[in-house]
Amino acid sequence: MKIDITKAASFVKAGAIEALEPQVKAAQKALEEGTCAGNDFLGWMHLPSSITPEFIAELNATAKVLQENCEAVVVAGIGGSYLGARMVIDALSNTFGWLKPSKTPRILFAGNNIGEDYLSELIDYLKGVKFGVINISKSGTTTETAITFRLLKKMCEDQRGKDEAKKVIVAITDAKKGAARTTADKEGYKSFIIPDNVGGRFSVLTPVGLLPIAVAGYDIAALVKGAQDMEKQCALDVPCAENPAAVYAATRNAIYQSGKKIEIMANYQPKLHNLGEWWKQLYGESEGKDGKGIFPASVDLTTDLHSMGQWIQDGERTIFETVISVEKPNTSLAVPSDAENLDGLNFLAGKRIDEVNKMAELGTQLAHVDGGVPNIKISIEKLDEYNIGQLIYFFEKGCGISGLILGVNPFNQPGVEAYKKNMFALLNKPGYEAESKAIQERLK
Ligand code: PA5
Repeated sequence: MKIDITKAASFVKAGAIEALEPQVKAAQKALEEGTCAGNDFLGWMHLPSSITPEFIAELNATAKVLQENCEAVVVAGIGGSYLGARMVIDALSNTFGWLKPSKTPRILFAGNNIGEDYLSELIDYLKGVKFGVINISKSGTTTETAITFRLLKKMCEDQRGKDEAKKVIVAITDAKKGAARTTADKEGYKSFIIPDNVGGRFSVLTPVGLLPIAVAGYDIAALVKGAQDMEKQCALDVPCAENPAAVYAATRNAIYQSGKKIEIMANYQPKLHNLGEWWKQLYGESEGKDGKGIFPASVDLTTDLHSMGQWIQDGERTIFETVISVEKPNTSLAVPSDAENLDGLNFLAGKRIDEVNKMAELGTQLAHVDGGVPNIKISIEKLDEYNIGQLIYFFEKGCGISGLILGVNPFNQPGVEAYKKNMFALLNKPGYEAESKAIQERLK
């Protein structure tokens, strides 16, 4: 993985990025020594290097049980309890693989919304399918996930009988607290623990991400190896200029301080759409607080050049762009030659599709820079487990450093409670009587 900030540095005062080095070092030191705000949620810091081959084997053994007994596995979870797995599985999967018969179960995601049609249609689909469930919730009480699990548990038990259902329902939750733990213990489900000191959005390298990724048939040992190598590259004793997470954190903060408040993550591979979704949660939830924080947005290019491209090129100059560039495709396809050349495309005949994509990427970068958009480029060699593992740890470490430079606690999310309180009051949840009364008054 490489980071190139040359087309971003020219947008800030000379030396502005380097001037942040003391803050970067202080942030890294505070993360390492556990002296920063949110220091009870630093379990992600040395998570990759703490994962043992035995633990990977246990995850793979559980994945095998689900693979052998299920045509589909529903991952029930929301926010940090599903975005990481979804991002990795999408990045590694054949885009149209779901249209073909597969040796591994189809992975479906639910519990991340409260759409009645979504859930009805899921249940309808599962009626004819042997399915299992991975129920993921750190708190064990999240409404979206809990409603979904209630529906799926009943359906799985009706389909297979209670005893057989137990074999294909796995819980990933807190060691002691929450309804998901109570249910798992009472029903005797195989379960994995989400460590107390790892927050949801930093949990992809715990069983939260690793089990669904293993069930989908991917090499979680290689994913973890990528993260381990990046953990070393981002260590405290590595000089700032050689530490990609430090470079990223300093650059985006220097740009933010220069007045640009929105960071757009752009990819040129449709498989990376959900990398943007995962990254938005990681950075948005970590930094958007106390009236501060870069707003993280994402676009899929070249697709969105035909929609958002206008705004990026020419709208209010409050944005900067971080491009994820994949150096080599995993397959090979060239533009065919055509004797009649009716479409006038013979100038591309014989060129790889990826060469056209790369010229679109370069042309767009130059155009956006000309249009006043600072550009950070992050390149990975190819889409595989190792490279995605590197990206995961790079973005996590960059986020921790960046949030501390910004002066917030990157590891809490007090803002997400506001909607829950109102929703529970409106639904008359026991314990919310006073809030219920107050909200009814407000709605009069
Ligand atoms: O990052 C976070 O903490 C959140 O996005 C949570 O992951 C999300 O709210 C789901 O919470 P839980 O895992 O407790 O169901």
